[in-house]
Amino acid sequence: MKKYNWGIIGTGTISNLFAEGLTTLDQAIIYAVGSRNQATADRFAEKWQISHAYDSYEAVYADPEVDVVYIGTPHNFHFQNVRDALTGGKHVLCEKPFTINAAEARELVALARRKNLFLMDAMWNRFQPWFQVVNDLLKEERLGELLHFKADLSFRFDVGSEHRIYNRDLGGGALLDLGVYPIALASAFLGKPSEIKSMSHLYDTGVDDQVSMLFGYTSGAIAELGCSARYLTKNNATLHGSRGFLEIHGMIIRPEKITIHEQGQEMIEIDTPYTSNAYQYEAEAVMEMLDLERIEHPLMPLEETIEIMETMDQIRRNIKLTYPGE
Ligand SMILES: NC(=O)c1ccc[n+]([C@@H]2O[C@H](COP(=O)([O-])OP(=O)(O)OC[C@H]3O[C@@H](n4cnc5c(N)ncnc54)[C@H](OP(=O)(O)O)[C@@H]3O)[C@@H](O)[C@H]2O)c1
Repeated sequence: MKKYNWGIIGTGTISNLFAEGLTTLDQAIIYAVGSRNQATADRFAEKWQISHAYDSYEAVYADPEVDVVYIGTPHNFHFQNVRDALTGGKHVLCEKPFTINAAEARELVALARRKNLFLMDAMWNRFQPWFQVVNDLLKEERLGELLHFKADLSFRFDVGSEHRIYNRDLGGGALLDLGVYPIALASAFLGKPSEIKSMSHLYDTGVDDQVSMLFGYTSGAIAELGCSARYLTKNNATLHGSRGFLEIHGMIIRPEKITIHEQGQEMIEIDTPYTSNAYQYEAEAVMEMLDLERIEHPLMPLEETIEIMETMDQIRRNIKLTYPGE
């Protein structure tokens, strides 16, 4: 089994969770971490037993021993971080939202293809075992024709306006941070919407802290999606088909169980067990593709990542939200 040296960029919440996941994989070596300063890099390296702690992100990209880079910085830095990592000849897994807008995503995808390097949007729930279960059920047409999809991801954020969720300079807002999950699920199950309606509430900093979305599809299906930083919801999803419905219970980012309700039949319950914190599945998926010398993953294709960003661009046009530099 080939082992891969990972380099982690950024030392915040998600980089810690991702590192925890990586420690469970024999194939992964957490080889390097890059931070904006040495003390933070050292602390992170000590916590996760990483041999190389750098005081810049560039040093990670320049280290010839690093095979694949994980980007765990705020959204607005993803474009530059991914571009620099690819330019340094590294394969890349980048946190969601992949970029701020579709134009940035297109440029990164073109660069990865030119350089023949692996690139993927870290849409971690697609690599959890439950996602395959739902996909198989849909393929078997257990629900009949898929007519309606409903999903939400919302939490109450009692944080100051400097926090990245509300900070416009850091690509803040509920849509890019939370809305991307229901949108990505709708994309997985129904494809790209042909019609998009949306309504939002704005926070003091001018970014959205609540968005309700209605998508129409050429098939006739409809999706009702939501996200908010103002209140907590069940954070679940339901797929309604012509023969029955399927509920994804618990949070859509890491569901607890799935139930299938077919008309006139007993409800079926499917458990969704996880190993570790469930962040290791996406890392495993990356290394599977590297073993096969492939530069994208069929479960999270780059064209779909661009489409998801285009959908969010359209919603932002609807709610009149732009970010600095756009
Ligand atoms: N997949 C998931 O479940 C999940 C969960 C949470 C977040 N995320 C995504 O991960 C990304 C980071 O989120 P997070 O919650 O981990 O953020 P965070 O805790 O604020 O950490 C972000 C890290 O990025 C680096 N950074 C570089 N420039 C920065 C700046 N100007 N301000 C703040 N940090 C800066 C910092 O690391 P250094 O100081 O070491 O350079 C910081 O520790 C976001 O894009 C978010 O959407 C994903």
